[in-house]
Amino acid sequence: MPNRFRAPGRVNLIGEHTDYNQGFVLPIAIDLACTVTTEPAPEWTVTSRQFGETCVLSENGVPGERKRGHWTDYVLGVVREFGSGRPPLHLTVDSAVPVGSGLSSSASLEVSLALACLEGQPIPPMELVRRVHQVETDFIGLPCGIMDQYISVFGRLGHAVLIDCRSQQSHLVPLPAGVEYVVINTMVKHALATSAYATRVAECAADAAALGVTSLREAVISGGRPRARHIISENARVLEFVAACERGDLAAMGQLMFASHLSLREDYEVSCPELDFLVDQAAQFPGVYGARMTGGGFGGCAIALVNAGDATAFEQTITDAYQGRFGRTPGVYRVTPSDGAA
Ligand code: GLA
Repeated sequence: MPNRFRAPGRVNLIGEHTDYNQGFVLPIAIDLACTVTTEPAPEWTVTSRQFGETCVLSENGVPGERKRGHWTDYVLGVVREFGSGRPPLHLTVDSAVPVGSGLSSSASLEVSLALACLEGQPIPPMELVRRVHQVETDFIGLPCGIMDQYISVFGRLGHAVLIDCRSQQSHLVPLPAGVEYVVINTMVKHALATSAYATRVAECAADAAALGVTSLREAVISGGRPRARHIISENARVLEFVAACERGDLAAMGQLMFASHLSLREDYEVSCPELDFLVDQAAQFPGVYGARMTGGGFGGCAIALVNAGDATAFEQTITDAYQGRFGRTPGVYRVTPSDGAA
């Protein structure tokens, strides 16, 4: 009987691009997950059900040194970190998280693979988060924050997780009833995405230095710098959103989502026409409380907070509108706040 390990993707409700600025984020783990099964094998090998491919990662049982510019780099990075010194495995990856959609397909892959390599050996959850995050920054080379790996491990059914990325502490935020979280996938990822991410990381560091603070988390005035202005205002919005959540104020939550989108579009400049269109359309739909882009931007997904009874009609309306405008069928997923990795 092969062993089976699972880690979810995520949707960030609010707090975008704040994680690598030591700020606040409020993601949920979702019911779309990556599953990895393991079987003993003579070499480290991986099969992806989605890519329909099997690849060998080791020679004489030792995982390779170098990246290949291929999806298996994530696997190799995790195997090097968590699998060295143990007998090789054949890993079978089956993921329901759409690849490259901004729903954290890579973190869910990395976390489930790490658990697979450990095969039930206990690990403190925060150590798991930090080491998987390190694979992403040091081996893959993406200077990302800690949100995606964190929520994939610490997600909780029915809750969002408020993460303070400076202290790396979090607390659970119960979510109000009567709403649906509708994720709409633009089905595009503009080429700019990866390079712009690194550029924003550098711009924020430069702004922090110019403002005389160690990170933009510490900044209170932006001095007219738009990137800093986004981070300062977004951190405040996360805390306001949590307060609105606690008093069940869906209208206020929705307005904060729209404000977040505007800030990401105007001050942070990580949106794109497809995402702006989805958010504008959502704003016109009576049952929608709020909507925004979610994740890194330049494509990927938007999330809408929708009155439960209106969600089906909303899905149809937004699908038709997007098809009419861009000639492409958007992916639409109604996600539920779910438990983290197991
Ligand atoms: C990507 C990164 C995260 C975070 C978001 C933007 O998903 O992996 O760490 O920075 O973008 O909020």
